[in-house]
Amino acid sequence: MKILFSQKTEDISAYFVYSDGSVLGCASPDEALKKTLAYAKSCESFSGERSSSFCLDDSSTGKRTILVGLGNPKDFNMEILRRSVNELTHLAEKRRIASISLPLMSFDCSNTNEIVAITETAVMSSYRYIEYLTSPKAKYLNEVALVVNPTQAMEAALNRGIVLGEAVCRARDLVNEPANVQTPLKLAEEAVALGEEYGFSTRLLDEKEIIALGMEAFYNVGMASHNPSVLIVMDYKGATDSKEKIGLVGKGVTYDSGGLNLKSGDRFITMKHDMAGAATVISTLCAASRLKLPVNLVVIVAACENVISSTAFKPGDIIGSMDGKTIQITSTDAEGRLTMIDALTYAATIEGATCLIDIATLTGAARRMFGDYAAPYVSTCDDLSKAVDSGAKEAGEVLVRLPIIEEIKDVLRCDVADMVNSARSEVGGMISASLFIREFTCGLPWLHIDASGPLWIEKDVHYMTKGGSGWGVRTLFHAIENLSKAE
Ligand code: BES
Ligand code: ZN
Ligand code: ZN
Repeated sequence: MKILFSQKTEDISAYFVYSDGSVLGCASPDEALKKTLAYAKSCESFSGERSSSFCLDDSSTGKRTILVGLGNPKDFNMEILRRSVNELTHLAEKRRIASISLPLMSFDCSNTNEIVAITETAVMSSYRYIEYLTSPKAKYLNEVALVVNPTQAMEAALNRGIVLGEAVCRARDLVNEPANVQTPLKLAEEAVALGEEYGFSTRLLDEKEIIALGMEAFYNVGMASHNPSVLIVMDYKGATDSKEKIGLVGKGVTYDSGGLNLKSGDRFITMKHDMAGAATVISTLCAASRLKLPVNLVVIVAACENVISSTAFKPGDIIGSMDGKTIQITSTDAEGRLTMIDALTYAATIEGATCLIDIATLTGAARRMFGDYAAPYVSTCDDLSKAVDSGAKEAGEVLVRLPIIEEIKDVLRCDVADMVNSARSEVGGMISASLFIREFTCGLPWLHIDASGPLWIEKDVHYMTKGGSGWGVRTLFHAIENLSKAE
């Protein structure tokens, strides 16, 4: 999808119309547009309601005008605009339109947020995962032109929209790639390639190094697989004069069979997406690096595959961790937290992270809480929470802070090791998993997002496309940007 500025309106143009008849970016509509608006209204099929649309062909001029509703101007926000842009791109695709103009002549520098929203949504909503189709359906819409004389700020906004939209699509590609192709090593190679392209450095630690570091928890999860585990360490220095360094950790289980606590029924089929947290942090880093955020980031992914063989770790095993604490395995399917804790310890002790944010498809409990639409998070730090809350608001995503209920920690108690990796009962599963992970955060400010729900969705939700959704990338990007401003 190409998105650009243009000085001229092409044959097919689209306008975003409020329910009071005013038009986004067109303070004073010309006669032709006024006539179209009046006609649309008289047909009673279009009154600017949210998500409604109207299409008019003028046979005398050969021009086509599309109107998309924004609803009441008092309720307007960027998320409403994004959803309307999504309506438009779908309508264009259905009508086999290749190129569309958005006349926004009355936009000035103060409308850069709108430009970002339009651009990122055009990129996000045109995504299809067609990698393995030998004859994919034709795609029609390939160009959106914003008709306005752009200022420098607007040019920067367009670029920001493209970068953010592409980062979301990158995360989707990483998640949608099947596990037979995307082994831990393949994911690592992808990270190296992205680093070369976008200007961050990547180091890979193999199993020997993982063992030497004492990462027993992480190592055990991947021990049964023929595909070796790899620790992916990515580094971006955007603020060399600052001592602050944000540690971002994403769960990178490229396939989760459950291990010897084998999953059942149809729970296997989507488990290639158990590295969606990794896809989110890698893609966020791509965007941060491309947009040169003034911040230092270390991004860690403990990539491995949770499968079974005679070398698999077993329920009842007692293992160590990089931090030194011992863990009795009560479920090999609670593997994510085992990989995350060593990655977090590594970020804190070896890389010198000054705060930690992690995102993972960690528990079914989190998915049952809010489904596709939101993710719960917990945090030991109000400043991190504030940054993530406002980042989510900016992205139009929903994250809900839950309390860390200390009493729940009881369920992790163990007689023969420092703790068990999984409670007997699933009750309170999201919080007990969080409490387990918190033990390994070295007392640093920490925020943990359990995004099992929205990171993989079975149907499109507005501009978030089904399968790997790319959810969370923009929230994390904005959160990091907020933190860089707060420093
Ligand atoms: N990857 C799963 C969590 C998950 C489930 C993500 C469904 C997306 C959809 C995780 O490794 C897991 O299996 N968690 C268990 C933990 C339990 C054994 C304590 C769960 O939530 O059922
Ligand atoms: Zn599992
Ligand atoms: Zn898992």
